[in-house]
Amino acid sequence: MQKPEHIAIIMDGNGRWAQERGLQRFEGHIAGAKTVEQIVEDADDLGVRQLTLYCLSSENWKRPKAELDALMILLKSYVIDQRPRMMEKSVQFKMIGRRKGIPDDVLAEIDKTIELTRGNHGIILCLAINYGSRGELRDAFVRIAEQLADPAARKALLEENRAGSIDELVTEEFISRHLYTAPYTDPDLLIRTAGEMRLSNYLLWQISYAEFWVTPIYWPDFNRAVLEEAIAAFGRRNRKFGGLPGGEQPRP
Ligand code: IPE
Ligand code: IPE
Ligand code: MG
Repeated sequence: MQKPEHIAIIMDGNGRWAQERGLQRFEGHIAGAKTVEQIVEDADDLGVRQLTLYCLSSENWKRPKAELDALMILLKSYVIDQRPRMMEKSVQFKMIGRRKGIPDDVLAEIDKTIELTRGNHGIILCLAINYGSRGELRDAFVRIAEQLADPAARKALLEENRAGSIDELVTEEFISRHLYTAPYTDPDLLIRTAGEMRLSNYLLWQISYAEFWVTPIYWPDFNRAVLEEAIAAFGRRNRKFGGLPGGEQPRP
């Protein structure tokens, strides 16, 4: 049965989980962070090579300051507290998203964890923080435009890529190389918890052919059994990438 190597997750429903228990929203985020700890280990056990988790979108800054502050404190303690476990499990810790806007003290701890785990060879744990897919594409287009506007840089780029024109140079692969996710493969499976049927500006380019799986379960209640269910559902999907089922040939 086919297995997803790279799973992206929109971890939604922390707020509703808390509200339904008469708790504060931030308590839902605390419970959600515990789920992250557990699910990284479960995904690793199940042979997943990469997890890309949506932690904070570029649109989430619209939330009350108190909630955002709580999220930043949680994030910082997560990347500090998990270091020993990440080293034990050889986790490669990464981040995608716009650095500008994330508090310096949080960024510094994120960077330390990235550095510490750089030589590891286990599961890649990539957190999307201050991430927005349109912003990512916009940043890529600006960087490409800047390179092309500089005659020396343009010449070097064309030569490096053995391209005779800008049209030949700017392939889909070239654009992918300018995204935050450049070093990674595209997700095979996208999971969203808490039932919403939308992407909320997540990995728009990268999930072109990902299989989409939505569960009504809130993120704090997500567990290994649900992950296994998602992986099993993925195994039953018929991925065609625009071709025909099972690679059948069309009739003449
Ligand atoms: C997802 O949970 C976590 C973040 C967006 C940080 P929410 O906080 O969006 O939970 P709901 O959607 O309000 O239940
Ligand atoms: C998406 O959830 C972002 C994260 C899970 C971090 P939201 O709760 O922000 O999405 P919307 O607002 O329901 O689209
Ligand atoms: Mg939400």
